[in-house]
Amino acid sequence: MTLDLFGSVQRKVPEHEDLLPGVVVLRRRALADDAALVAASHSVTSISPFRHMVTPGGFTMSVAMSNCGEWGWVTDRTGYRYDRLDPQTGKPWPPMPAIFETLATEAAAEAGFANFTPDACLINRYEPGARMSLHQDRNERDFSQPIVSVSLGLPAVFQFGGDQRADKTVRVPLAHGDVIVWGGPARLRFHGILPLKRGDHPLLGAQRINLTFRRAG
Ligand code: SIN
Ligand code: FE2
Repeated sequence: MTLDLFGSVQRKVPEHEDLLPGVVVLRRRALADDAALVAASHSVTSISPFRHMVTPGGFTMSVAMSNCGEWGWVTDRTGYRYDRLDPQTGKPWPPMPAIFETLATEAAAEAGFANFTPDACLINRYEPGARMSLHQDRNERDFSQPIVSVSLGLPAVFQFGGDQRADKTVRVPLAHGDVIVWGGPARLRFHGILPLKRGDHPLLGAQRINLTFRRAG
């Protein structure tokens, strides 16, 4: 604990936090590269724009999505899957920017997952009110590979549950630059994002951008 200038007690946020078995939070890990990550994300979405996809149940997602890398995660009335082509452009997803891949591989290694080579990056855009309900990431082939998730822009509350939807959840506040890595015993835990609160971020305005890296193929 440290006292700040105004004498109030502040708990020091650890930079490497073992949240649960197989879950590591790397606070501010992406901060030094934030502007370059945002620019790279813009270059992807200028080719494959953000869009609101439809779930198999017919609901339009509040989170807008795009992808880069060899595989992109998509959903429509026929189901969830990875596709090499962007269904909106009919072309391959833009290549994964080198700065994305480097960050994902390094963060995974720091969290204890060596040799992570992502072939898919889902880019999620949350505007105030957008949320992601509890779900498992299970469209990937190899569950021994972890997931690396980077938060940029407005803060959000990430929920981690158990392996069953009804299991109780822990809430993790995620701020601009935070990276969360999960795998091993945590790979199939349910997780989600609570509705985004209003705000104005200096770099991203009224939005949160999340980069989710996976080995899909
Ligand atoms: C996801 O689970 O795909 C998104 C998580 C996040 O936005 O942090
Ligand atoms: Fe997910």
